[in-house]
Amino acid sequence: MTRKSIITQSPGRINLIGEHTDYNDGFVLPAAINKKAIFRLTKNGTDKDINIYSENIGNHFSFELDNFNPIENGWENYVMGVINELQKFGAKLKGFDGQFGGDVPIGSGMSSSAALECSLSFGLNELFDLGLNKWQLIKVSQMAEHNFVGVKCGIMDQFTSMMGKKNHVMLLDCRSLEYQYFPFDLGEYQLLLLNTNVSHELASTEYNTRREECELGVKIIKNKFLGIKKLRDVTLEMLQQNINKLPEKVFKRCRHIITENQRVLDATSALVKNDFHQLGQLIYQSHISLQKDYEVSCPELDFLVNLTLKKKYILGSRMMGGGFGGCTINLIDKKQIAKFIEIADKEYQLEYGKSLTPYLVSIENGSGIIEK
Ligand code: GLA
Repeated sequence: MTRKSIITQSPGRINLIGEHTDYNDGFVLPAAINKKAIFRLTKNGTDKDINIYSENIGNHFSFELDNFNPIENGWENYVMGVINELQKFGAKLKGFDGQFGGDVPIGSGMSSSAALECSLSFGLNELFDLGLNKWQLIKVSQMAEHNFVGVKCGIMDQFTSMMGKKNHVMLLDCRSLEYQYFPFDLGEYQLLLLNTNVSHELASTEYNTRREECELGVKIIKNKFLGIKKLRDVTLEMLQQNINKLPEKVFKRCRHIITENQRVLDATSALVKNDFHQLGQLIYQSHISLQKDYEVSCPELDFLVNLTLKKKYILGSRMMGGGFGGCTINLIDKKQIAKFIEIADKEYQLEYGKSLTPYLVSIENGSGIIEK
């Protein structure tokens, strides 16, 4: 079908548990949410002129399909990155005008970047009848981030934004790419996100460093145990046997990944059994591991997690996403939400002199067309 224009939407995501495991071929348990990037695309009749407008930033940007390069730190890289990857797939694009906006808070750990990349790749695929499947679009969106944005991210965010299913979380095996949907009903509990409003500026450099540390761990452990490709293949026993060979930091990074993978599997079982107390415990353990072993938390995130510790109506709390800012995710009794938000905001204000932002998110479908 030949279209002149299209509007697409792609959601941000939450992640119940499984942080930094994706690029180690491990497991994650994310879901798409009711916060979205929306892209309106219209063919402009030219061969190669691209004009993009960001509604939220109020910024225009133009370039030509055969002449563009990454710039330093800009949203433009997400757009150019997607186009660059589509071209690598042999996509025959023509000139278009694009306008995007949406309500995924930037820097919140809800992956506004994947939402933007996926809404664009999904939209261009439809508009120009490129014939790519969702997995190819996931890859295009992920590689845009690697090659133009410079963050060597895993596949979780783009996968979730593309494949999300209403009222379901997804267990994704980031090695085989097999995934399973699980109905998500927390009974009398609910998920509450608290945004620290600390933007994770350190995130991209530290993110790539963590990835390198994990790779170094594999390189060393592999000398003793053949057949190891990623930390997914390493057990705690194997790690322990290498304790003297690994720099302490690398040992800790590896320990987080190995224990976190197990927590994802345990959390999935807990969810299936409606054992929310167990789920909450795993969520707390995940935070401690991210804080102490992976060292990607920050004082504001730790403060908000600590605030929940003695509250019986909160079963679990942890930092969510890449870290160094963004949100905590809290498993909380529905009836106590308003009260807790009030307490948390007051305490946070007192400690840091600024407000937090609460979000009660619902779980929604992945990328789709809004209007043709
Ligand atoms: C970011 C990355 C993901 C994942 C998380 C941490 O959101 O984009 O691939 O690694 O951090 O779990």
